Amino acid sequence: MARKIWVFDTTLRDGEQVPGAKLNQYEKLEVAQQLKKLGVDIIEAGFPASSTGDFNAVKEIAATVGNTDDMMITALARAVKSDIDAVYNSVKHAENPLIHIVLGTSDIHVEKKFGKSKNQILDIGVEAVKYAKNYLPDVQYSTEDASRSDFEYLWKTIEAVVKAGATIINVPDTVGYAEPEEFGELIFKLNDRLKNLNDQVLLSVHCHNDLGMATANTLAAIKNGADKVECTINGIGERAGNAALEEVVMAIHTRPSVYQAYTNINTKEIMNTSRLVSSFMGLDVQVNKAITGDNAFAHSSGIHQDGLLKSRDAYEIISPHEVGLDDMELVLTARSGRHAVKNALEKLGFDNLTDVQFEEIFADFLKLADKKKEVYHHDLYIIVENHFTENHNQAIAHFSDHFFELIDLQVISNTSFPSASVKMKRGEQMLEGSAVGSGPIDALYSAIMEMSQLDIQLHEYHISSVSRGKEAVGKVKIQVEFRGEKYTAKATDTDIMKASASAFINAINHIVVDHLLPVG
Ligand code: KIV
Ligand code: ZN
Repeated sequence: MARKIWVFDTTLRDGEQVPGAKLNQYEKLEVAQQLKKLGVDIIEAGFPASSTGDFNAVKEIAATVGNTDDMMITALARAVKSDIDAVYNSVKHAENPLIHIVLGTSDIHVEKKFGKSKNQILDIGVEAVKYAKNYLPDVQYSTEDASRSDFEYLWKTIEAVVKAGATIINVPDTVGYAEPEEFGELIFKLNDRLKNLNDQVLLSVHCHNDLGMATANTLAAIKNGADKVECTINGIGERAGNAALEEVVMAIHTRPSVYQAYTNINTKEIMNTSRLVSSFMGLDVQVNKAITGDNAFAHSSGIHQDGLLKSRDAYEIISPHEVGLDDMELVLTARSGRHAVKNALEKLGFDNLTDVQFEEIFADFLKLADKKKEVYHHDLYIIVENHFTENHNQAIAHFSDHFFELIDLQVISNTSFPSASVKMKRGEQMLEGSAVGSGPIDALYSAIMEMSQLDIQLHEYHISSVSRGKEAVGKVKIQVEFRGEKYTAKATDTDIMKASASAFINAINHIVVDHLLPVG
């Protein structure tokens, strides 16, 4: 008989650890709302002890998205009281809160990372679970680096934390070292012992993709008894990423007789979720990525196209409709009107906008439609994201006197003296500057940097086109360094020079928040 597999999404925690993928609170909330529509069983909303911003975002998600019996909200804690306090105080606002504790079990973690004995680490883990159980009935314990741990010590830890009250045991392949057959055997052995100890405790897996085997390892674990899988949308996450939710779910869905399992995921929401996460986090999806890549359902060879026309199943194992991919993308123009724009936004999952939010977004749509004539779905994501960024900026408007704002720019590109002149505003103060450089972007950034009086190094500059059409929106993503710290920022505009300047100014404003604002 088919078993239910619990889907735990960690896009907002492990996924958000990707450099430059940080979201503001409004964006996190929107992603969490979409994950709820997708039907995940547990959302890991962040790591509240890491910053006040993260704490507040988890709290907001727990209160507004976690107001349901059908889904749990959790957040990550190290095995220390202050982390567990932070998790409890942020997730307690949900109907179904869960505390997630992580502590390593491999010799490398125990001896090298913590410099302690195995017994000491085991005691710390048990105490952490007992402490968390004072707060909540549901506690997940992750044995970090489980796949490289001594089996008997791993089991001893699991046995002890289950006796202390852990209700979910998560077995991470933290560094993506496992191999499917071997990982499947590990899960089989652990599950056998765990279910004999307490058959109410769920066994979970969390796989990383360093050797490209995160999905395969996760599926091998399911075949061998795992009850729950931890995934991220588009497989984003630390280093090479995590197991991709859409791959694991669609494998179970497409091959039920192999996995004898099902999930509660509404597969029709997969594409919207993938595009929302990709757009908000500024992380492009590889074109040939399984399920969510742009080419995943495109057939180019004549033989395949001919076969498809005769019978779709000749070359198609999943219908694009099953993952929410519509054949028809309505192209919007300045004449489309409110109804059509609202409809398109709803199709993309933005169906909880207030009237005020919609009117503001519609005004931005009209501005973009005037500039680029044809507005595609990718453009709508950008408009909504810019709207949330604007909301975020208004929420910190009391700092606005300290922020830089672009007023105008002129960039001259030629072979001998590329140069740039820039007008900016800081509070009420107008600033003007110009510079020459080895190229137009170098000149532009030199002018802005001089005016900001900050010593910033540019590490990365990446420009891409967001959507289609003659006037496609340019997206610029940069990484800069200031006083040894790295900052990532992005901006979009139909004018790529303006997008480049705005991305740099956004990075400067992040630096201002972190280093230059008066305390208090
Ligand atoms: O990769 C890992 O081990 C983790 C744990 C916190 C589950 O992300
Ligand atoms: Zn991880």
